Amino acid sequence: MKILRTAACAALLCPAAHAQSADPLAPTGRWSAYAAGHAPTPPMGWNSWNAFASAVDEEKVMGSAKRIVESGLARKGYVYVNLDDGWAAGRRQPDGHLMIRADKFPSTTRSNKKTPSFKPYTDKLHALGLKAGIYSDMGRNTCAQAWSATDADLPKGSVAEREVGLHDYIEQDIALYFREWGFDYLKVDGCGLRDFGANSAKVKAGQARDLTPIMDLGAISRTDVAAVQNLFRQVGAAIEHSRPDGDFIYSLCIWGAANVRAWAKDVGNISRTSDDISPAWGRLLVNYDSAVHRALYAHPGSWNDPDMLYIGAGDFDAGHLTEARSHFALWAMLNAPLLIGADLRKTPDTLMDIFGNADIIALDQDAAGNQATVAYDSSDLQILLKTLSNGDKAVAVFNRGSGATDVNLQATQLKYRDDALVEITDLWTKKQLSFTKETKLRVAPRETLIFRARGTRALADGFYLSEQPGKVNPAVDGVTRPIADPTIFRTAAGWGGTRGAGDRPQYAGWGGARADSAPYGQTLQIARKTYQSGIGILANSRLEVRNDGYRHFAAEVGVDDSATDKTNVVTFLVYGDGKRLAETRPLKWGMPAELIEVDVSGVKLVELVARSATTENEALPVAWGEAALTGS
Ligand code: GLA
Repeated sequence: MKILRTAACAALLCPAAHAQSADPLAPTGRWSAYAAGHAPTPPMGWNSWNAFASAVDEEKVMGSAKRIVESGLARKGYVYVNLDDGWAAGRRQPDGHLMIRADKFPSTTRSNKKTPSFKPYTDKLHALGLKAGIYSDMGRNTCAQAWSATDADLPKGSVAEREVGLHDYIEQDIALYFREWGFDYLKVDGCGLRDFGANSAKVKAGQARDLTPIMDLGAISRTDVAAVQNLFRQVGAAIEHSRPDGDFIYSLCIWGAANVRAWAKDVGNISRTSDDISPAWGRLLVNYDSAVHRALYAHPGSWNDPDMLYIGAGDFDAGHLTEARSHFALWAMLNAPLLIGADLRKTPDTLMDIFGNADIIALDQDAAGNQATVAYDSSDLQILLKTLSNGDKAVAVFNRGSGATDVNLQATQLKYRDDALVEITDLWTKKQLSFTKETKLRVAPRETLIFRARGTRALADGFYLSEQPGKVNPAVDGVTRPIADPTIFRTAAGWGGTRGAGDRPQYAGWGGARADSAPYGQTLQIARKTYQSGIGILANSRLEVRNDGYRHFAAEVGVDDSATDKTNVVTFLVYGDGKRLAETRPLKWGMPAELIEVDVSGVKLVELVARSATTENEALPVAWGEAALTGS
């Protein structure tokens, strides 16, 4: 192994980064993930869709809002009350003003304006100490307009009057939502971009205009990623303009299509990673799987969204408390938005207690913003691990399957020393226990044990980067080619029921950057040496790492043994605030790891670049083994 030190690149000799460079791997010295809006932690609240679909009205919303306040959930952080699809009556012609279903939302006729306005409605929510959310679509029409079996709750009138989506109306509608109506939160759906092509039933029936699809959930090759991204950036800019105090949430809802799992962290506050959740165990697994390996794509300001909570119905109703608790615990570990989808007017206390578990809410809302990483992975059992801002760890032991399982939970899985005491507190029962080395746990079918843990860190004076995914941003993750993601659990029926060809694999950014894992899921390994900690990423990538006062950065780097490209070489570079601090010699498959050690005293942003001449990055995964910041 060769040792590279800062001295090898004294500040004056190191070329400064060229900020405007077109080279995406050139260091910028700048954290680039989304910082607009107000999502230092994932948003919490309620949404109308799971309980009411389009049959939503003011009484239903306000009934749930009232319970949120009276039950104390609002004080615990559930503040957003979000109206989903179903509120729109149409778009008035010729001025294009959006019309509300005033019969369903009577307060909207009580403003001093002739046209119904949501201002009295949002005023009411604000007076309760809550915030108000609304729904739109990026195309001309919404998802209910594409999929609803009846048109009872859909916009009425001419084709143009029924076009309630943002297409051609971005500035006008965003100003209406945020300036005039006083909303604080916007969810932007994507059915208008995919479901209204010339062959769609609604278009053929003359009910909607043809809008050539630019997005296809099943085929990234039929998706114009740049065009989709551009639209979402336009809407984001309009929101920033209309809500200059920055107190907004911008929610992207394109279900993992258009490679959004890679870029949403640069564009909005939350982004759906999968199609809609349903109150079925199998579907929960699908949605959970779409987010669980993507911890590095979530940071304060921008979070993975595996969809709203379905606690209160089907497999998660009061007769299924094990499943309901698992759903809540897993979403908290994933730093998912905690958006209740139940009719709270009727929700029993046993389920209200789940929503109100302050110790578990605290994991979701922890200021460090580290989404859990997978410490142990197998088909039926997973152990999730998350580092909290006070240094404690949250641990979830998740039994996905149908048989009870005995688990040996090891101190080393928690990145603790196995010769020192580990104390854990069960966040449902509040029972405490301590152990050294390992402890035995029994997990019932579909149960998730969830603990807060305290022990002696294996890495005494710092953190592995994989323990701090909230501070690591794969600004360029090297994924450039569409490959369907086989990790998504696919047994559950989606929208189509059992008709058609089934839930085929969908492009999911397969090969994205991972914590403690190679990009395709293998153990990190360089020339047969394995690493329990580290970052796996494809070649031609650049990671941004926030440094909160640590003095040393170290990693063992090389081409990961999982690479099928055994020829191309990769050079690893480390930058501190844009200046080159270290560079390895070119490394290829099978060569032993090189140790990089650099002084990062005073450096705010460390950038880790793996550069190669290949354009086929997907064949060339690399490893930043045991990458860590130490020495405070
Ligand atoms: C899509 C979204 C859902 C919901 C409906 C409304 O399916 O994914 O969350 O907003 O549209 O029609």
